[in-house]
Amino acid sequence: MEFGGRVVLVTGGANGIGRALCQRIAQERPRGIIIADCDLPAAISVAEELGARAMQCDVSCEADVKAVVEKARQEFGQIEIVVSNAGVTAKGGFEAPDEDWDRLWRINSMAHVYLARATVPDMVERGGGAFIVTASAAGLLTEIGSAAYSVTKHGAVAFAEWLSVHYRNRGLKVACLCPAGVATDFLDMNDPIHQFLHYRSVTPAHVAECVIETLRSERFLVLPHPEVGEFFQFKTQDYDRWLHNFAHINSRLQKRLDRVTKATKDSSEIS
Ligand SMILES: NC(=O)c1ccc[n+]([C@@H]2O[C@H](COP(=O)([O-])OP(=O)(O)OC[C@H]3O[C@@H](n4cnc5c(N)ncnc54)[C@H](O)[C@@H]3O)[C@@H](O)[C@H]2O)c1
Repeated sequence: MEFGGRVVLVTGGANGIGRALCQRIAQERPRGIIIADCDLPAAISVAEELGARAMQCDVSCEADVKAVVEKARQEFGQIEIVVSNAGVTAKGGFEAPDEDWDRLWRINSMAHVYLARATVPDMVERGGGAFIVTASAAGLLTEIGSAAYSVTKHGAVAFAEWLSVHYRNRGLKVACLCPAGVATDFLDMNDPIHQFLHYRSVTPAHVAECVIETLRSERFLVLPHPEVGEFFQFKTQDYDRWLHNFAHINSRLQKRLDRVTKATKDSSEIS
């Protein structure tokens, strides 16, 4: 699947990976790029740079998603490629508040469903298109620092698989982007777990290049970090050993986290 001459809708395109994707897609000379983001000023600034169209959208709200798709169709006639990329995280295990679980569920999982409902039937009726879901390595493996992120990104991978199984014979190419650390504002550099991810992070531009290449070769998984593919294979080969190894990484990071928390507490007591 090529981007050239096509109309592309990118959610979360105002910053980070989404912005790099819009910049890379623009080089392919698409007919139009629609940047749908809740951060409208940033979306406008990327749109101005690329000659794209910015639209305000909260992807966790189905009415917003429908409205953006409708407006895009009015302006461009149709949408041929969807990049469902917006996503958020929140720290914590099962003790994290329900509000965080609900927010992550709606943004990291349901937003893909809303966007598919609004775009896939029309794409399929016109002979096909492409739908790219930004999940995460956390959707194939786990994210040690966030239970809700791990669960909702597994949801994103599961939905992308389902979409591919149901629509690949009807002309829809589905791809699922599963990076580990990517150097964007998403990574909180005060969090030792995110510091660990940052240490092995890649650039958003590299991720964008991988998306273009994977779509071109019509593969499902976009893996900007090859080691994620190796860990994933290892997980399916020996689930118990995989869990054991991740538990070991978790213990090491937890010790680091405890040290940082203690140091922060001590310094606030001194001041
Ligand atoms: N950065 C990483 O290390 C990393 C790793 C794996 C997966 N991801 C995933 O990649 C995607 C992009 O992350 P990023 O690193 O570019 O983050 P980012 O925070 O730099 O950008 C996210 C963008 O999504 C937008 N957004 C957030 N909530 C939204 C909502 N409800 N409606 C519309 N737009 C919304 C933000 O305004 C922002 O423009 C996310 O799905 C994230 O989970 C990121």
